[in-house]
Amino acid sequence: MKALVTGGRRGIGRAIAHALGGAGFDVAVNDVEDSAELRATVAEVSALGVKAVAVIGDISDLDAHKAMLDAAEAALGPLTTLVNNAGVSVQNRGDLLDVTAESYDRCLNVNTRGTFFLTQAFARRLRPSQAHRSIVTISSANASGVSVNRGEYCISKAGVSMMSKLFAARLGNEGVGVYEIQPGFIETDMTAPSKARYDKLIDEGLTVIKRFGTPEEVGRIALTLAQGLLPYTTGQIIQADAGLMMVRY
Ligand code: NAI
Repeated sequence: MKALVTGGRRGIGRAIAHALGGAGFDVAVNDVEDSAELRATVAEVSALGVKAVAVIGDISDLDAHKAMLDAAEAALGPLTTLVNNAGVSVQNRGDLLDVTAESYDRCLNVNTRGTFFLTQAFARRLRPSQAHRSIVTISSANASGVSVNRGEYCISKAGVSMMSKLFAARLGNEGVGVYEIQPGFIETDMTAPSKARYDKLIDEGLTVIKRFGTPEEVGRIALTLAQGLLPYTTGQIIQADAGLMMVRY
């Protein structure tokens, strides 16, 4: 099987690329620009004994999508799997009354619009295959959970959650599994600035399992979905959130 993982330079995307490579997937690792981290991730995946290639491109640039998919397929052959992981947080956490159009547009352009059109471009060229074909999108617990201090991120993730359901409904009968993972608190660079605050809230019972998750744990879930190990399902949401979103009283 052959996967394109967006935003795979570091964090959750990197761990997903590792998990897929470890299970025999050839992996195209995308990120917005060339970097030592991106090259290291590609080298690490390649060392697992599969093909790995860096595919540089900004997913919010719709004109870049064709070249990204072409580059991935030129190196690996026809893709079977798209993992929509690339995402950005807000420019500044703060009052909803202060959200700027710039930060709103950035969140929506990357997390929602870019992801939608990359998924559309991937789906249009998806060919029949003996291998399981899938689209796995990393949204967030904020697809439904309200965080008033990052409203534009929440809106973008709610949108991409609907995107996943739409593609699940469109492609399900063609044998393409379309899934969404909603992570809660995963220890990455994105969450580093707020880790201490959330550690305290987690300790006080915000989540059922009282710890941050690891990128590797999300990687294992993405691999499970990409391998088609949840038969007769599509459109599912996996809440990788330690029970954060489970209503308790
Ligand atoms: P991260 O910031 O460590 O990694 C995100 C990667 O995406 C970076 O390598 C970045 O360069 C890349 N990227 C950003 N914009 C891009 C673009 N336009 N085109 C291509 N690549 C781009 O973040 P992390 O924590 O690994 O997050 C990965 C995904 O998981 C994101 O979609 C994020 O919203 C989501 N998520 C993360 C959670 C967490 O607790 N860390 C919780 C819920 C969701």
